[in-house]
Parts: sequence; structure tokens; C-alpha cells
Amino acid sequence: MKQNNPHQKGMVIWLMGLSGAGKSTIATGLEAKLNENGFFTFAMDGDLIRSGINSDLTFSEADRLENIRRVVEISKMLVHKDIITICSFITPMQKQRELCRQILNGKYFEVFVDCPVSICEDRDVKGLYKKARNNEISNFTGVNAGFEIPLNSNLVLNSNKNSPQECVELVFSAILPYIFQK
Ligand code: ADX
Repeated sequence: MKQNNPHQKGMVIWLMGLSGAGKSTIATGLEAKLNENGFFTFAMDGDLIRSGINSDLTFSEADRLENIRRVVEISKMLVHKDIITICSFITPMQKQRELCRQILNGKYFEVFVDCPVSICEDRDVKGLYKKARNNEISNFTGVNAGFEIPLNSNLVLNSNKNSPQECVELVFSAILPYIFQK
């Protein structure tokens, strides 16, 4: 078994963006890269959390805020144990992002996975854009629910221009100073 890096400091890497922008793919690659380098991590995403602990929540604006709030509170406990926590959630509203920053207080590293809605819709990995266009799903982000462009992100990735591996490398080098900060 790999030895954990005894010098790592806990932090939260919060990947946000539209469904299909590539958040979970980048998160998986980032987690693998961190683990290969001896860092201990924990990852959460919308599909995982909403099928379990947050299965009582819908996609209304109030429930999305509650979804994020619970994940942030879990993340806070993990960070306290110096675990590098990777969260991939659409996080469509600035209010939700401000809550993350406020609760995590300096341990929050925001990454906007930027990808035009037209590209996400072309990919439509889960077939959800099609369903939203056919009015089979309501409140679908990018179709019939809003996404405010993040203005204060620590890092912006263009997942339609850079490959997932390039995005992973960009996040990895950007967070290294934080992981070792005193
Ligand atoms: S958030 O808005 O509250 O941050 P979250 O990241 O947890 O969203 O969940 C998004 C995932 O839920 C998407 O990747 C998609 O698979 C699924 N989903 C189901 N319904 C919707 C919807 N109406 N809007 C957005 N995503 C949806």
C-alpha cells in the first residue's frame, strides 16, 4: 500500500460547470494523479451524493443550495482531517459558491470547467439534454434552468479546447502550493 504524504494539508477542490462539461472525468484523473503522488483524497459528485445522502432533494433553486450546503459541511470535516477533497457539482448560482467559500474559509479552491452548452448538448453522455428539450425533465441547467458564469474562480479550464489529461495537469500544478501551505 502507498504511504500517505505526511505533509499534505487539507483543501477542497471544487469543480463546477454544466452537466457534460467534463467535471467528473477531470476529477477522476486528478484523484488518480494525486494518489500516484502519495496524497490521500476523497471525491464526491452530484450523481453519487444525490443517489444517497441527498436523495430527498430536487433541482429547485432552494434544494440545490441545500445540496451544496450539505456537501460543503461534509467537506469541512474531511479537510479538518487534512484530506484533499474533490467535489464535482454543477453549482449553478453565485450564492452557492459564496456559501462554499464562506464555510470553507481559505480551504476552498474553485475550478470552473468551462464548456459551451452547445458542446455539452452534442456530447449528451447521459441523454439528459434530449429529455430536457422534450420537456421530460424540468429545471435542467443550461436548458430550462440558469447557470451564472462564475466570476471569482481560482482556475478556469476550457474543456472543449484542452484534453481531460491537460486539464488534470493544470489543476494539479495549481493546487500543489496549497497542499503544502503552512
Ligand atoms: S447542483 O445544481 O445541485 O449542483 P448536481 O451537481 O448535484 O447539481 O447534480 C447534477 C447531476 O444530476 C447531473 O450531472 C445530472 O446527471 C443529474 N440531473 C438530473 N436532473 C437534473 C437537472 N434538472 N438539472 C441538472 N442536472 C440534473
